[in-house]
Amino acid sequence: MCEYDPLADIYEIWSTADPAYVPCYNFYVQACSNTQGCIVELGIGTGRIAIAVAQNGNIVTGIDISSRMLEHCQTNIEHAGLDEQITLIQDDIRSFELSQKADLIILPFRSIGHLLTHDDKRTALQQVYKNLAAGGRFIFDHYIFNKQWALAHHGIPRLMHGSLDPSIGGKFIWDTYLYDFSSQRMQCFITIEKTNQNGIVIQKSHNPLTFSWILPEQVRELVMEIGFEIESVYGDFMFGSFQENSSEQIWVLRYPE
Ligand SMILES: C[S@@+](CC[C@H](N)C(=O)[O-])C[C@H]1O[C@@H](n2cnc3c(N)ncnc32)[C@H](O)[C@@H]1O
Repeated sequence: MCEYDPLADIYEIWSTADPAYVPCYNFYVQACSNTQGCIVELGIGTGRIAIAVAQNGNIVTGIDISSRMLEHCQTNIEHAGLDEQITLIQDDIRSFELSQKADLIILPFRSIGHLLTHDDKRTALQQVYKNLAAGGRFIFDHYIFNKQWALAHHGIPRLMHGSLDPSIGGKFIWDTYLYDFSSQRMQCFITIEKTNQNGIVIQKSHNPLTFSWILPEQVRELVMEIGFEIESVYGDFMFGSFQENSSEQIWVLRYPE
């Protein structure tokens, strides 16, 4: 079982609390809009970006390691009537193989952070490189790690979602992050509470999710080592260029022609 499986039912209501959720979606949908060929989304999740990209007329392949996320994704694809345009594959970003080289591969919403070691990230980037057509692009993003924010939030539960319906009860989702600065990792716990109509907790689960951040200089070193050309680096999801004080790093890389 993978860490995302128990989160699949709540993924969308949980993630919408993240301020990057919508801007990230808008960025990738626009970034994909000028690609004619084969587009692949790594870590497709429940499909929100791939579905919008397919609605714009593209053929998309989605890859994810979590069977439960893929089940939700398949349901969303069917509701959108896009079965013909989107193919799903259960695979690992570090070892996927495409039957046809891609013109654009995307890895949205800082999902590179789910690859926990530097070697995992290198292996994934090498795999992307191998599966790109000449001139093809790879786009991924990650936030700029903010140590002060991390220190202020270490171990403190944050409410990500709360709803209480007097007739059916409530649902509350809390995130707690424990940082390990030396290994560049954080152990997250996603706590899901269900309550009765009176707000009394009747069911509770703590779901671990391990994450690792990456610094811009580490990305630069990796992409140069692998052989990508750097087309652009954005510092926000509005296509603003990367600056010292940017909150995001969004890399547009190219397989040389
Ligand atoms: C943060 S979610 C992003 C989902 C979607 N791209 C979005 O923007 O909403 C990360 C996704 O990556 C998947 N994932 C994590 N590690 C993976 C791996 N090694 N190989 C393939 N998918 C992976 C998870 O199962 C999850 O669906």
